[in-house]
Amino acid sequence: MTASDQARMAPVPRHVAVIMDGNGRWAERRALPRAAGHRAGARAVRAIIEHAARCGIEALTLFAFSSENWRRPPDEVGLLMQLLLEALDREVTELATNEVRLRFVGDRSRLTPLLAGRMAEAERRTAAGQRLDLMVAVAYGGRWDLAQAARQLALETAAGRIDPAAIDEAALAARLVTAGRPEPDLFIRTGGERRISNFMLWDLAYTELWFTDALWPDFDDSALDAALADFAGRQRRFGRTAAQLGRA
Ligand code: IPE
Ligand code: IPE
Ligand code: MG
Repeated sequence: MTASDQARMAPVPRHVAVIMDGNGRWAERRALPRAAGHRAGARAVRAIIEHAARCGIEALTLFAFSSENWRRPPDEVGLLMQLLLEALDREVTELATNEVRLRFVGDRSRLTPLLAGRMAEAERRTAAGQRLDLMVAVAYGGRWDLAQAARQLALETAAGRIDPAAIDEAALAARLVTAGRPEPDLFIRTGGERRISNFMLWDLAYTELWFTDALWPDFDDSALDAALADFAGRQRRFGRTAAQLGRA
């Protein structure tokens, strides 16, 4: 057993990745505009960050806006970007105080210079945080990430810096925007859908999946506790047999 597999068998996940889904339905059930659901969803984010840090989770990735979400009506896209800006203005100081390191992953070329600038500033201001590694996926798609990593490899190969024969899994993984973090141990999706929706396609290869019908604005500390309890009872085998793990 490799040391990294062993680390991944710990009862508390090192890295939790979350698809925060169901804001629109949360609002529709209250006869409110979808915007109200997105605002409520933004409030739920704050609580989960604090609770994750308390639970000893090292890294938390939150899917905020996918490559495919650009297909939504322009008004909704604009609102989501506005909410992100507002959340940065409101939260970054406290994240820095609480030792949370914030980083964004995704295709920043599609964002306005104002938002991209604020994101870079938030990353700078929280760079020293060591308590929780928070990654927010914005304009992110798993396929986009794989394609951009392949493009980097092609450029480096064309420039003679890499031998094509040396391109292996580690070489590709090192060029993903998610490189440098442990792969997610636990994936959580709220909102009832049982799908991955183009999230972290490479990284989730051996992640434990947990789905809940709870809508994202209703996801609270006890919901995270339920996911963590379920995770603690999973047997992760990474291809081996139960007997090899010594706990058949
Ligand atoms: C998740 O909630 C937020 C984003 C995808 C940005 P949705 O907006 O997808 O909510 P539903 O799925 O329509 O309820
Ligand atoms: C996934 O939710 C993306 C985010 C939560 C950011 P969607 O609501 O966009 O997913 P699909 O399109 O229903 O699969
Ligand atoms: Mg949705």
